[in-house]
Amino acid sequence: MDYGPAPESDAEVRAWLATHKSSFGHFIGGSFVTGAKQIDTNEPATGKLLARIADGSKKDIDTAVSAARKAQGSWEKLGGHGRARHLYALARMLQRHARLFAVLESLDNGKPIRETRDLDVPLAVRHFYHHAGWAQLQDSELSAYKAIGVVGQIIPWNFPLLMLAWKVAPALAAGNTVVLKPAEFTPLTALLFAELAHKAGLPPGVLNVVTGEGATGASLVEHAGVDKIAFTGSTEVGRLIRKATAGTGKSLTLELGGKSPFIVFDDADLDGAVEGVVDAIWFNQGQVCCAGSRLLVQEGVAADFIKRLKRRMGKLRVGHPLDKAIDMGAIIDPIQLKRIGMLVDKGVAEGAEKFQPEITLPATGCFFPPTLLTNVETSSTVATEEIFGPVLVSMTFRTPDEAVMLANNSRYGLSASVWSETIGLALDIAPKLQCGVVWVNATNLFDAAVGFGGYRESGFGREGGREGIYEYLKLKAWAARKPKAVQRVAAEAEVKPNFDEPALDRTAKLFIGGKQARPDGNYSRAVLSPSGKIVGEVGEGNRKDIRNAVAAARAAEGWSKATAHNRAQILYYMAENLSARADEFASRIKAMTGTSKAKSEVEAAIQRLFSYGAWADKYDGAVHAPPLRGVALAMHEPLGVVGVICPDEAPLLGFISLISPLIAMGNRVVVVPSERHPLAATDFYQVLETSDVPAGVINIVTGGRDTLLKTLAEHDDVDGLWVFGSKENSASAEKLSTGNLKRTLVDHGLATDWYDTASSEGPVLLRHAVQVKNIWIPYGE
Ligand code: NAI
Ligand code: MG
Repeated sequence: MDYGPAPESDAEVRAWLATHKSSFGHFIGGSFVTGAKQIDTNEPATGKLLARIADGSKKDIDTAVSAARKAQGSWEKLGGHGRARHLYALARMLQRHARLFAVLESLDNGKPIRETRDLDVPLAVRHFYHHAGWAQLQDSELSAYKAIGVVGQIIPWNFPLLMLAWKVAPALAAGNTVVLKPAEFTPLTALLFAELAHKAGLPPGVLNVVTGEGATGASLVEHAGVDKIAFTGSTEVGRLIRKATAGTGKSLTLELGGKSPFIVFDDADLDGAVEGVVDAIWFNQGQVCCAGSRLLVQEGVAADFIKRLKRRMGKLRVGHPLDKAIDMGAIIDPIQLKRIGMLVDKGVAEGAEKFQPEITLPATGCFFPPTLLTNVETSSTVATEEIFGPVLVSMTFRTPDEAVMLANNSRYGLSASVWSETIGLALDIAPKLQCGVVWVNATNLFDAAVGFGGYRESGFGREGGREGIYEYLKLKAWAARKPKAVQRVAAEAEVKPNFDEPALDRTAKLFIGGKQARPDGNYSRAVLSPSGKIVGEVGEGNRKDIRNAVAAARAAEGWSKATAHNRAQILYYMAENLSARADEFASRIKAMTGTSKAKSEVEAAIQRLFSYGAWADKYDGAVHAPPLRGVALAMHEPLGVVGVICPDEAPLLGFISLISPLIAMGNRVVVVPSERHPLAATDFYQVLETSDVPAGVINIVTGGRDTLLKTLAEHDDVDGLWVFGSKENSASAEKLSTGNLKRTLVDHGLATDWYDTASSEGPVLLRHAVQVKNIWIPYGE
């Protein structure tokens, strides 16, 4: 039996385009505003012009940011319930116009109407409902937080409306206003959304859409009136944005590329897994950041699996996106088509075997057949680069350990699929995969209640779920922080040679891998009292010391696997041992800082250790109930190795406040104590030595903050970086950490009140000490 064409009507879309004469300005402050320059957006399926859109200038961005700023105060003051009603109205508006959105998206992007109708639009609706709920619950569930302000959002062309929903819904729910820059290839559903949102009563300026190319996005990133940037797109542009926003105080979330593994064990339901592959790599023509583009099959079933897969590929139908019976539509643009072809050719040149089924493609337009590359080397271009097209590469493995190793052999860490009928095996593998989302016996499942986002070069931050809404909020206690008083390190503290020379006090070494270690350069620095008296000396750590400390921390991975009970016990033990020497610590703090609060600082540090001992087995994730038969486990995972720059204020309490949440969650740390008052941390070596802290979990390198920070920021084996120092320190941490796109938490030179639990204890910091991995487990036959 053959399929006849089953086209969806585009009449309603053509009528909407006609009312605008197929020419659009930006949507700013509640109405369309003409831009000076125009660009085209085409139908990828035919190459025909669909509409002309404005190419946003710096001035357009400025107008939009001003409109958003003007609207922000009253939008926030409207309150959670008021905003919930608006978000609910947006969800209803989308539902009422579902078909119009689905057809317009399909035309502008080239993706099958079946997908826009059954996935993009319903999921976008779901995001607005879900976030109407967050707005409603903001006062009770998120009361320690407030809106960030004006948010700039830049989205790609692969899921234009869905990415709008993922970004706009949480931003507006939390009380922010938005300037959205859609992708140049697919601006139309955003313009339609803005227009209909306004008709649905959304106040002017709350959502502004400025269209244009990369330069328009860059202007939005650079605009001083923007408080946060949320970006989805290529890793390359993500890095540029990280650099451009470094040190500006703008918060940032990045959802970037991927090269996600699709792992098939020999006991998998092979036909089910074949259908999974179809969904993983041919859904949306493979133009999906979390596409399962690396097939890893267990050797014993590989030949059989590939045979079944090839047979299935022969049944895929590629055609006009508005045909309801097709599986794959058009590639977004000739540029992308050329790039895909080039990468496939490169794969073949590097030794891969290419399979493309004998299926007919439309004679014109931008189409690429489903493609399978076998015989691929793990290091080849096609196995490592994101192709962003309907191209699957396949490799084999023998053991579960080898599967994990191959799966994690990537710069990216967005998602993974695991196929096995043995639940024990699947759930053993899932947490070992270094990525933000794992689907067990499934792929490409999404829900607004379940966070989505990646690790490493896939970016940072999550969209959806509780973790997603936090990305659009700021802690009230932090929003009120003032710049630190500038503290100058006295001149006598300059580095001086001869580490071996007897000093007034014992010269403290560094603490690396559980042992006191002499600094590599054999230099020490004096520690002065407020009156300039030498109260002790510490080692002057350098790059090599940081590298040694990172290696020691990396090796201590047993800590990340230790039980929470075990970690809690050790934190309590540290508290107990600190308590036994409280007077000694108090007099040291007094000698260094002259404070009269030294005793209470030690007491607060003891309490803080107890607090994180308490949290260690309680800050433990969630089980979500997305709309399917199954669950999604939101697991709190440690980041891994985290660099910590400690503040000069409260030298013991600041140090304890930063390292305890990190180690409570299973991270290993490389800590640079207060540059000015480091002796509280070096005295702490003895507490560590007597508290059963495993070697390498806490490594301490004293010395010049600026240089040590630089080495930590640039180190690709450091997964996260917390910087509580100067404004400049924050800027360089953000700027220099783009190599592996590590997650940063910086204070921008603002003074944190370490005695105030609302600013410095519990979930406010624990949240930054973990990354949420969502493991989807559908069940039933
Ligand atoms: P892109 O990253 O250049 O574009 C994404 C968005 O960023 C668009 O709205 C674009 O106008 C904007 N943009 C571009 N340069 C910018 C800049 N300097 N500052 C601010 N905004 C900027 O992605 P593109 O060129 O569309 O696709 C290139 C490759 O990126 C694809 O082949 C694919 O590998 C990857 N990609 C990944 C996506 C994902 O979801 N992970 C989405 C889109 C592309
Ligand atoms: Mg288009």
